[in-house]
Amino acid sequence: MKKTILITGGAGFIGSHVVRLFVNTYPDCQIVNLDKLTYAGNLENLKDIEDKANYTFEKGDIVDATFIDSLFEKYKFDGVIHLAAESHVDRSITDPMAFVMTNVIGTVNLLNAARATWKDKYEGKRFYHVSTDEVYGELHDPKEFFVEDTSYDPRSPYSASKASSDHFVRAYNSTYGLPVVISNCSNNYGPNHFPEKLIPLMINNIKNKKPLPVYGKGENIRDWLYVLDHARAIDVIYHKADDGETYNIGGNNEWTNIDLVHLICDVMDKKLGQPVGESRNLITYVKDRAGHDLRYAIDATKLMNKLGWEPSVTFEEGLEKTVDWYLNNWDWISNITSGDYQKYYQEMYS
Ligand code: NAD
Ligand code: TYD
Repeated sequence: MKKTILITGGAGFIGSHVVRLFVNTYPDCQIVNLDKLTYAGNLENLKDIEDKANYTFEKGDIVDATFIDSLFEKYKFDGVIHLAAESHVDRSITDPMAFVMTNVIGTVNLLNAARATWKDKYEGKRFYHVSTDEVYGELHDPKEFFVEDTSYDPRSPYSASKASSDHFVRAYNSTYGLPVVISNCSNNYGPNHFPEKLIPLMINNIKNKKPLPVYGKGENIRDWLYVLDHARAIDVIYHKADDGETYNIGGNNEWTNIDLVHLICDVMDKKLGQPVGESRNLITYVKDRAGHDLRYAIDATKLMNKLGWEPSVTFEEGLEKTVDWYLNNWDWISNITSGDYQKYYQEMYS
């Protein structure tokens, strides 16, 4: 029997790569992409696969329980890969409730609908919740890494909402036996990344010769993974992990923000045919983010040893591919950096 998988948030950054991978790799599987198309959702991301027979798009809000129940009634999903979320830490600081609604209430609506549809018959069923390493809080000791049983210590409204949703997912596993898996991934980068996040923001501002806002002293550390490698990890975990398992996903690739911004400046100078050093002049230190987590770093040994996943590109290759993608798809960025986003951006940095 043909399987039907619901992917939520499939018009967003990571979701669009997951949808494309599943649609192309599993032609016998029907992929339903549910997305509200918020400022972060863009169907342009999926133009190349929108006509495929095994792909369907549904516009809707995971906060709307009646709608979610009717969607499950219509498709009787065999699996769910849940990525829909409010995802930007800075927005969570100015509007925490939007994060509670989508990330917590939306997730519980999906869990309830899955339970009601599967009715305790869980053979061949799976609910995969895509989470973040930010639920573990921040690291100070350079020798420490996040592992799967690191205690939760979320410090931003975003990470608190994701931590809360993770707890609900695990609780539905313990209480009702719902067959769940969770992964917690480090910072992603790559094509289709919305330009409010560090790497595409810097690429966009360098191209437009605008200031490059570095929070605080630029000493915070993030662990960067190419988005297609995250999508490949989700594929492996969805198909191979045991029920109830958690996997950390990361590329063992830590950078201080300022070193990373320097690298992006140098790659951009080369690509734009400018003297090396020109873009670095745009760097502007700005007020630090409130509660700014110092360091994230993932230990992905479990995923590598148990399921055989490993990153497929080095950071140098991935960053070059990313810069090339933005320079070759400038319409994509121009289309989304008008209107509401411009207003938000001006308020943030004025
Ligand atoms: P994104 O903001 O680019 O995309 C989110 C998508 O969800 C958008 O298409 C948006 O329209 C949709 N959406 C938002 N609210 C919705 C709602 N109420 N109903 C239906 N759809 C809604 O986010 P992303 O960076 O692609 O992240 C995807 C997932 O991966 C999130 O759950 C995030 O927490 C997690 N994650 C992200 C990263 C990262 O570095 N970006 C790292 C680890 C985990
Ligand atoms: P971001 O891309 O927002 O991801 P996250 O906060 O989820 O890690 O930010 C990555 C890092 O870059 C984080 O330490 C904050 C910093 N940052 C800046 O210094 N300037 C910026 O304009 C942005 C958006 C982020």
